[in-house]
Amino acid sequence: MKKVGIVGCGLMGSGIAQMSALNGYATTVVEVNDEILKKGMASIETFLEKGKARGKVTDEQIAAVKKNLSTSTQMSALKDCDIVVEAVTENTELKKKVFKQLSDIVRDDTILATNTSSISVTELATVVKNPERMVGMHFFNPVPIMKLVEIIRGLATTDAVVAASREYALSLGKEPITCPDTPAFVVNKLLIPYLLDAVRMVQDGIATPEDVDKAMVHGCGYPMGPITLLDYVGLDTTCHAADVMYEEFREPKYAAPVLLRRMVQAGRWGRKTGRGFYSYDKK
Ligand code: CAA
Repeated sequence: MKKVGIVGCGLMGSGIAQMSALNGYATTVVEVNDEILKKGMASIETFLEKGKARGKVTDEQIAAVKKNLSTSTQMSALKDCDIVVEAVTENTELKKKVFKQLSDIVRDDTILATNTSSISVTELATVVKNPERMVGMHFFNPVPIMKLVEIIRGLATTDAVVAASREYALSLGKEPITCPDTPAFVVNKLLIPYLLDAVRMVQDGIATPEDVDKAMVHGCGYPMGPITLLDYVGLDTTCHAADVMYEEFREPKYAAPVLLRRMVQAGRWGRKTGRGFYSYDKK
């Protein structure tokens, strides 16, 4: 693998692009407009500069990212890629649209990977030519720091495609695990009910958001409390994952609490919108 394409330059896409470019892949990121691309590139730059200040990132690494990373607003820019990782919003129809388009543009043997956290890889594969080259590659936020990648095998995915995806993840310095195409895979099957329970505690007046966070940070040594983590991951993403899991399993532990749904409806999605359970308004 030499050329990597990324569709989507948000929180996850920009992180995957950064790691690919840093590790020597000619990487092209596609977004719908220049404004989003600019924002994504700025967040990569900030991360690298902060990393340099901490002595974690070298000038050579920053130069490699600059040299290997390019951007485009045209999907056709991905036509020569060996692997394309899709990291657009968690929306089945949007992802299908992206993969249908990609399938007409890239080579028949280009690996098509989705960074979905909950949508079925098998379902997304139905819109592409050669569904056996479709795979899930679920990265974690913040992508440059979190080591795990879940490699999800759809019903049609071949062993060779799983092996190549693992190799790619390893080459980015990640620790891959392989999972079947079951809703939410491994991490979110454990994490989502935990986050939903934290919201229920706030909703039912058992504890304040601050106290729920304090409890898990100081009581269990978690790096972030669940409410801070919800704001970090995005309330919209969490609510969507919960809905997919509830739809599939019909178990109450996966049902999104009313407070979470209302906050999503109000646009309080967390850091990405400037307000979630906490406020991130710089003013
Ligand atoms: N460049 C390079 N390295 C950096 C860096 C930078 N800009 N910023 C931080 N680092 C490194 C640090 O040097 C440190 O490395 P060492 O451990 O080797 O010293 C490491 O990253 C952690 O840095 P800090 O301890 O200073 O950062 P922190 O204490 O503020 O922690 C955090 C930040 C890593 C995000 C931590 O809070 C954490 O792990 N939070 C939980 C995140 C999590 O759970 N993510 C998964 C969410 S679920 C998901 O994404 C999937 C889904 O589908 C919902």
